[in-house]
Amino acid sequence: MRVVSGIQPTGNLHLGNYLGAIRNWVTMQDAHPGQCLFFLADLHAITLFQDPASLTASTREMAAALMASGIDPAKSILFNQARVPEHAQLAWILSCTARIGWLNRMTQFKEKSGKDREGASIGLYTYPVLQAADVLLYKATHVPVGDDQKQHLELARDIATKFNNDFAVELFPLPEPIIPAAAPRIRSLRDGSAKMSKSDPSDMSRINLNDDADSIAAKIRKAKTDPAPLPDTLAELAERPEARNLVDIYASLSGETPDAVLARFAGQGFGAFKPALAELTVETIAPIGAKFRALLAQPEVVDAALAAGGEAARAIAAPVLAEVQAAVGFLR
Ligand code: TYM
Repeated sequence: MRVVSGIQPTGNLHLGNYLGAIRNWVTMQDAHPGQCLFFLADLHAITLFQDPASLTASTREMAAALMASGIDPAKSILFNQARVPEHAQLAWILSCTARIGWLNRMTQFKEKSGKDREGASIGLYTYPVLQAADVLLYKATHVPVGDDQKQHLELARDIATKFNNDFAVELFPLPEPIIPAAAPRIRSLRDGSAKMSKSDPSDMSRINLNDDADSIAAKIRKAKTDPAPLPDTLAELAERPEARNLVDIYASLSGETPDAVLARFAGQGFGAFKPALAELTVETIAPIGAKFRALLAQPEVVDAALAAGGEAARAIAAPVLAEVQAAVGFLR
């Protein structure tokens, strides 16, 4: 078993990242110490322009946030992607395996490129090939991600299958996405049709893991909802995405099913539900925020962890890349 996943070091680590992915990273790390690699996807971040000084700072901050969330460099390999040149090297080879038609189906490119598709970077278009390289480089078997990354993982499986077939090798195992049942996709607090995202211009749309108790309570109090009370079953929330999102968040935090949460709150309005949700959120997040601030005061600890992680990652990546180069037939 090998577990691999990444996160873009732009903006803050938010509740969607945490409940959708990072909490699963910690679970897998603790169940399989020594078999997990987690990285800051700085190569992916630059598909949209990043101010250089901010990129450096947010890479360090995101690493600190992951460590505060429970990623332990003694149990997992934690590094930033740019430190391991094999990611980009494998991405080139796999970009010759991936088909243009496959990339044309990727919904994230359509969302991120917006109206000016011709003006988007080529990197934004080939982003999913780099993501495939990220996991295949380590022969990953399991990839803990939120639901929004499912399509990218399917592409990685297609690329792996075609590469294995084209070169008649069994080089890449097919990576399995690990997506949480309770909170596959956390929505924006302002708009139930959008996912909670680091890039949403409104900070009120998301709960950041370093928000203090007052701002968490304020964001939940102001979260968009409707005047109807909570129903008995989840099925009745189908047309109420904002209400459904808050119930999903509660269930994910408390470790219950959404139906169990509704059984307890059925008939009550958001006046009662929101304070309970705020309390539960603060309970989970406050200790992470405290550890995060302590780590930010020791940047050398974070930097040393990433440097050691980069070396450990390269030690795994280099022989796999060599195998790929041999399969392709490069004279070396
Ligand atoms: P990123 O940085 O957008 O998000 C990191 C992880 O958080 C999950 N996530 C969510 N889950 C539930 N609800 C949400 N609102 C939400 N927002 C984010 C994401 O699914 C992800 O698991 N392309 C990736 C980074 C990446 C990667 C990889 C992931 C690069 N290479 C290889 C896995 C394997 C991304 O932009 O994630």
